[in-house]
Amino acid sequence: MRVRAFAKINLSLRVLGVRPDGYHELRTIFQSIALHDTLVFRRTTGPFRLECDDPACPSNERNLVWRAAERLWKASGRKGPPRNVAVSIRKRIPVAGGLGGGSSDAAAAIRALGTLWHVPLGRQRTIAWALGADIPYFFEGGTALGLGRGDLLFPLHDHPARAVLLVLPRFGVSTADAFGWWDAGHGSSTPRRRVTTPSAEAVGPEQFRNDLEPPVAARHPEIGRIVRRLRRSGAVHAAMSGSGSTVFGLFSTRPAAERAAADVEGRGRRVVLTRTLSRTAYARLAATEPIG
Ligand code: C5P
Repeated sequence: MRVRAFAKINLSLRVLGVRPDGYHELRTIFQSIALHDTLVFRRTTGPFRLECDDPACPSNERNLVWRAAERLWKASGRKGPPRNVAVSIRKRIPVAGGLGGGSSDAAAAIRALGTLWHVPLGRQRTIAWALGADIPYFFEGGTALGLGRGDLLFPLHDHPARAVLLVLPRFGVSTADAFGWWDAGHGSSTPRRRVTTPSAEAVGPEQFRNDLEPPVAARHPEIGRIVRRLRRSGAVHAAMSGSGSTVFGLFSTRPAAERAAADVEGRGRRVVLTRTLSRTAYARLAATEPIG
């Protein structure tokens, strides 16, 4: 079985406060993009195996795909550690980039192994919820509003199709660090700010913002430099995605994004040119496919 695991960007990410469980209350707009990893699942005999072509991506129980496999195996009523499947990940989404790569791989694994091991969809969703705050979004795709930890999801009208330029600095940022830096600037008793309900179509790009960007950019000034450069290069909107380190620019046309890529490239930065995906395109392209 083969599954594509698409990346996301956060068009907007507002941090509303700290919850009693230590997580942060969010109001975020997720958007799928065409950049993806590819996971292949093969039946074998023997212990569960995981391999990945990117050395930055762990091939053991530190990988969310491994942890997803353990939970699905149990949910299917089987005993002991998972067996008889080998997973290989062709990694194209940068690790620790704020693009949801690990979470998207996990969601893809839950869907594929859930089919293979006959775990009902409701149970698959519960496992997704328990495993990570960003994973449930990848059961939906497209443009979606995420509340709570980002895991209470509401579909929004598709954001207008855009070319997306991703700029990847040399460093990654851990999600826990980014939220910790936000805490350091706010104190845990921050009253919740009132934020009007966004709809990707009704809210102008100037109202899109990422509350994690200032604390992360304070530690990594390169982030702010890239955002400003993308704006000067004609981006309709530019911001850090999630907890960083990736910065994205939205452009009305691909040639405009290509020109900006030439402007911003270099200094150890990597650029990736991609595009937004609608919910229907996501549903079609992210479906599990039988192979061989
Ligand atoms: O749920 P996940 O493992 O993806 O989250 C990684 C880390 O990001 C958490 O341990 C937590 O520190 C932080 N986080 C948070 N609030 C959220 C989502 C993530 O504080 N809504």
